[in-house]
Amino acid sequence: MTMRAVVASDHDPSLGALAVHDVARPSPRRHQVLIKVHCAPVNPIDVMILRGTYPALPPAPFIPGAVGVGTVVGHGGGLGRVLVGRRVVFAAPPGSPGTWAEYACTGVSLCVPLGDRFNDSDAVNLLANGMTAVGLTDLLDRSRHESVVFTAAASEVGQLFNRVTRGRRSLINVVRSDTQADILHRLGARIVLNSSTDDFPAQLGSWIERTGATAAIDSVGGTLAASLLDALPDRAELISIGRLSGEPVTIDALTNLTYRQQHMTGFSIYAWLDNLSPARRIRAIHRARRLYGPHGHRTRVQHIAGLDDAAQRLPDLIANTSAGKTLISPLSGATRPS
Ligand SMILES: NC(=O)c1ccc[n+]([C@@H]2O[C@H](COP(=O)([O-])OP(=O)(O)OC[C@H]3O[C@@H](n4cnc5c(N)ncnc54)[C@H](OP(=O)(O)O)[C@@H]3O)[C@@H](O)[C@H]2O)c1
Repeated sequence: MTMRAVVASDHDPSLGALAVHDVARPSPRRHQVLIKVHCAPVNPIDVMILRGTYPALPPAPFIPGAVGVGTVVGHGGGLGRVLVGRRVVFAAPPGSPGTWAEYACTGVSLCVPLGDRFNDSDAVNLLANGMTAVGLTDLLDRSRHESVVFTAAASEVGQLFNRVTRGRRSLINVVRSDTQADILHRLGARIVLNSSTDDFPAQLGSWIERTGATAAIDSVGGTLAASLLDALPDRAELISIGRLSGEPVTIDALTNLTYRQQHMTGFSIYAWLDNLSPARRIRAIHRARRLYGPHGHRTRVQHIAGLDDAAQRLPDLIANTSAGKTLISPLSGATRPS
């Protein structure tokens, strides 16, 4: 049996190597399920993989897409049978065919069943971004960081982190535009700094001192991340979660790591989930689910694109990510959500 899928013929910095093809429908192995995809987001990790800038790349040609929402329509035996008929948010196993397709296969442990109160688009990043916000909180709790800086804070992960952090610790949000600052103020964020203003370094230093911040969670990299370490106190920690600038972090190791005893670590949602016991995993999923709902987080969607549209004009669709996510829906033509 075949299915339609977006296929990247190569890794391409201009995102131009995409086309829709008829390809073989994947078959679930034991403890795996076959999912009819309803929609899949275009997330920064997908863009980095397509551009060839992510540290682990699937060999070309490949079907992109790390996560999605869909209905389980088949199983390969074992635990998979309990999910048949359920609507799930799921992640494609790293290195396997992705979610920008009519069907995808994944392991039962990479599926989270969705209740009726979630529509497809609201919950599409529950696993990728909701669980990341919860995982980062867990990491900060264990490291006893009571106040923290967060870059690209108007991103979906940043907004979810604001929700999960509320009332628990001081949060210094860093964004790069006033529009992004407004998004966070509407969410109730207290401290929001715009890194494109002249007084940003002074503001950052002042708020770090006032709140006693001892860590920064960074998804930008490059000079911004390096400047955070310089502004933070001795023994502070920089936790890298992404590289939106496309630039690596260059630091003076002798000054920051040796003399000032600062640390650099990273957080990966895949590694964190792998290391959770079943009980902690269930608790984490419950915490992530509670972030969503009518009065909670809803994924802001600016485009819903069909497979053809996504393949033909991905750079246009993701030109302004602050305005919302682009979702790829195998079932639809190109529309704007109302
Ligand atoms: N390590 C993990 O396990 C993990 C898991 C999930 C996500 N992440 C990372 O978390 C970050 C956010 O993901 P998301 O899905 O929440 O993002 P998103 O919703 O797509 O939003 C991206 C945001 O980052 C801003 N941005 C883009 N390039 C920037 C730059 N060079 N400097 C400053 N801001 C920039 C965008 O603003 P503009 O509109 O101005 O471009 C937008 O507000 C990404 O780096 C992603 O890779 C990591």
